[in-house]
Amino acid sequence: MSQPLAGRNVAVAVGGGIAAYKACDFVRELRRQGAEVRVAMTRGACEFVTPLTMQNLSGHPVFTDTFEASQDHAYGHLQLARWADLFVVAPATADLLARIRAGLGNDAVTTTLLAFRGQVLLAPAMNTAMWDHPETQATVQALAAQPKYRFVGPVAGPLADGDVGMGRLAELPALVEATVSLAVQGPLAGKSVLVTAGPTREFLDPVRFLSNPSTGKMGLAMGEVARALGARVTVVLGPTEASVSKGLEVVRVTSADDMLAAVMPRVEAADVFVAAAAVSDWKAQTVSALKTKKGDGPESLVLVRTPDVLATASAKVHENPRRPLLVGFAAETNDVEAYARGKLERKRLDLVVANDVSAPGSGFGVDTNRVVVFSRDGEAGRAEGPKREVARAIWDVVLGRLK
Ligand code: CTP
Repeated sequence: MSQPLAGRNVAVAVGGGIAAYKACDFVRELRRQGAEVRVAMTRGACEFVTPLTMQNLSGHPVFTDTFEASQDHAYGHLQLARWADLFVVAPATADLLARIRAGLGNDAVTTTLLAFRGQVLLAPAMNTAMWDHPETQATVQALAAQPKYRFVGPVAGPLADGDVGMGRLAELPALVEATVSLAVQGPLAGKSVLVTAGPTREFLDPVRFLSNPSTGKMGLAMGEVARALGARVTVVLGPTEASVSKGLEVVRVTSADDMLAAVMPRVEAADVFVAAAAVSDWKAQTVSALKTKKGDGPESLVLVRTPDVLATASAKVHENPRRPLLVGFAAETNDVEAYARGKLERKRLDLVVANDVSAPGSGFGVDTNRVVVFSRDGEAGRAEGPKREVARAIWDVVLGRLK
């Protein structure tokens, strides 16, 4: 089954109307389409559907109260706003629409929406008289004039109160279709992104290898964000236990040579190549087919260089009239800027993302990172925080260059 929302984080905000019960099926359907779903509910919504129902359907705790310390810790409005790629308000009541229009932040839903930078799909549902009211119509028109907001529905038909008229929540297939079409319209729609991520292993014999502590999380975050922005993403991934989100095509590799073999046939078709892998720089000159037995004396190992995947790919695409944007990473412990800019020149890159792996909260194995992005013209951006947010900031720089 194709899952058009695979790899997308969709936040559903539920307003307090009778159509709130339909949000249950909607959440379930979004998950069937591959989305990760988290739910925020107004106080009114909780009168119609319990947060526990939504928690079970979405698989995550539900955000209902901005001021409850435990909720703020687990899913505060800022966390939920940062997490989401896309917001759907279903049902959007007259009151909720008016509060969004006024820029209020007076409950869990509106504070989160205020903190959210992406696009919002509004699915109104209310009684016909309320829909027709000049204030509601003025609200809808004002919101519809902003590119940030899209509407789906309402539709005409029998209403819960016995009336027949305009005001029914859009039907489930229409809600899902509108969500999907918004999700695939990101700034990287139609673009193809190739990422290397994770460490490599250079085996000495069948039971021993050279490697490094990379987990691949930064590269995977780069892939996930690109996917969320609409790209087709392939990640060439070294050995790692890190979980891989569903929307990514993954090619598993072990050694630097494998990584090179996976990258070279794919790089020319890419629009952006992001080399985030921590490739081992050396391998054993000879690899023993049998386990090497230990002796008593000192041992020596002859090492030779592995191929530089990024530099080799860069040299190849520079021969072409059209080439991908090339983004390298530089993990350094000292003289970060000078070394990073050296790599930019030597490997003929467009951008290099430098991180000081010796700084706390940055580098291998942790969930946060602190980076500075350099182009040939100097510093092009910096970011600090969870790896996914850092990835988003790096993509903002890349998007600026793609234009
Ligand atoms: N890289 C690569 N293949 C290698 C080594 C590095 O593709 N064999 C890529 C990395 O994915 C990263 C960039 O090159 O994007 C910088 O990697 P790094 O190992 O820091 O650079 P080196 O050129 O090896 O420099 P040094 O060892 O002097 O730090």
